[in-house]
Amino acid sequence: MTSSPGDEAALLARRARVLAPTYQLFYEQPLQIVRAAGVWMYDAHGRRYLDAYNNVPVVGHCHPQVVEALASQARTLNTHTRYLAEQPLQLAEELLATLLSVPGSVIFTCTGSEANDLAVRISKAVTGGSGFIITEFAYHGATDVLSGMSPEDGGPLGPGVYTVPPPLGAAGAAAFGERVRECIERMRNDGVRPAAMLVDTIFSSEGVVPDPRGVLAPAVREVHAAGGLFIADEVQPGFGRLGEAMWGFQRHGIVPDLITMGKPMGNGHPIAAVAGRASVFAEFARGRRYFNTYGGNSVSCAAALAVLQVIRTENLLENARRSGAYLQRGLHTLAERHPAIREVRGAGLFIGVELGANPTSGLSGSAETRRVVNGMCRRGVLVGSTGRHGNVLKIRSPLTLESAHADLLLDALDQTLQSRS
Ligand SMILES: Cc1ncc(COP(=O)(O)O)c(C=O)c1O
Repeated sequence: MTSSPGDEAALLARRARVLAPTYQLFYEQPLQIVRAAGVWMYDAHGRRYLDAYNNVPVVGHCHPQVVEALASQARTLNTHTRYLAEQPLQLAEELLATLLSVPGSVIFTCTGSEANDLAVRISKAVTGGSGFIITEFAYHGATDVLSGMSPEDGGPLGPGVYTVPPPLGAAGAAAFGERVRECIERMRNDGVRPAAMLVDTIFSSEGVVPDPRGVLAPAVREVHAAGGLFIADEVQPGFGRLGEAMWGFQRHGIVPDLITMGKPMGNGHPIAAVAGRASVFAEFARGRRYFNTYGGNSVSCAAALAVLQVIRTENLLENARRSGAYLQRGLHTLAERHPAIREVRGAGLFIGVELGANPTSGLSGSAETRRVVNGMCRRGVLVGSTGRHGNVLKIRSPLTLESAHADLLLDALDQTLQSRS
């Protein structure tokens, strides 16, 4: 059975019959996207949307160099990491050169969840501890262990998992290290030994918290002093999105013990990894093996190598800085005219726009944010929402976004905020 292109009602009905109700769709009028290129996505009716939401196609949708690398490697060989091969080594070397100044190692996986799950296992094995610190509305992945470390998903915390508030606002930031210290104390009082603190270095699900730079450093010191490791979850902020650096942790002047990455790594092809200090992996490897059939396969590595090359040759960090600054300036200007915009927070092309009450629509918080996300979609611009209260617009376009695209986004937001639809 197939449905005619653009028959969204038929697709919705089939979806409801065969896909589990755990899946969610974006937008009140769900989109059937049939192709994409660069920053543009096209629906089945031929309508074009500016993609200001998807961080996975970091170098732009269907980038020809990535597509060619995938196709060419798929024509030649696709196998796993139990043979000697050039691609995984080159990829590990290139990644480590951006990550660490001390000797490092990499394990490839297929998803960010597998990477975080493995980082959790490694930190338990290396420290002998079982306690984990995460932030209150974090998301770290979909395995059983990680669902207990992903309060954003609504489930209960796992055993040994403790939360701290994210460093939101001046007071939250100033207190972050202290909150982590208290958390370690609570853990000890419960007889739990710390294994690691796991945080997303831009606190994406907490509503995007890029600043102040360095806020993570005192917290990491506390964790290290207590014998735990620090795991930087770079699944969302990584691969140059924040403009100043390839990785979010680098804005905080810290060196993580383990770094997890995924989403943009293959520009849409499933490849992810855990990287970190070689000494940590050496300790984990004593008496233990890890094999992941598809993790580090030749085709995925070729895609990831092409992504890294495009980031370099197209100067995408610089573009993230330039376009991100342009977009943030435009958002600040809109904030002067729209009282609904409470705060603009961002680094490079990862921007959160916190919304409050809008006198025009009469809505506030998550209801206003949902209205704006849907209104912008109708106006041809795709953004998302995030944060504990669902009141932060999440803007995270491919890094190829230019100022003319940013203008389209600003116009769509301006129009939506001053309308009722
Ligand atoms: C911060 C963070 N970590 C980990 C993951 C899990 O990655 P994946 O969906 O590839 O398993 C996600 C996915 O949304 C994420 O946002």
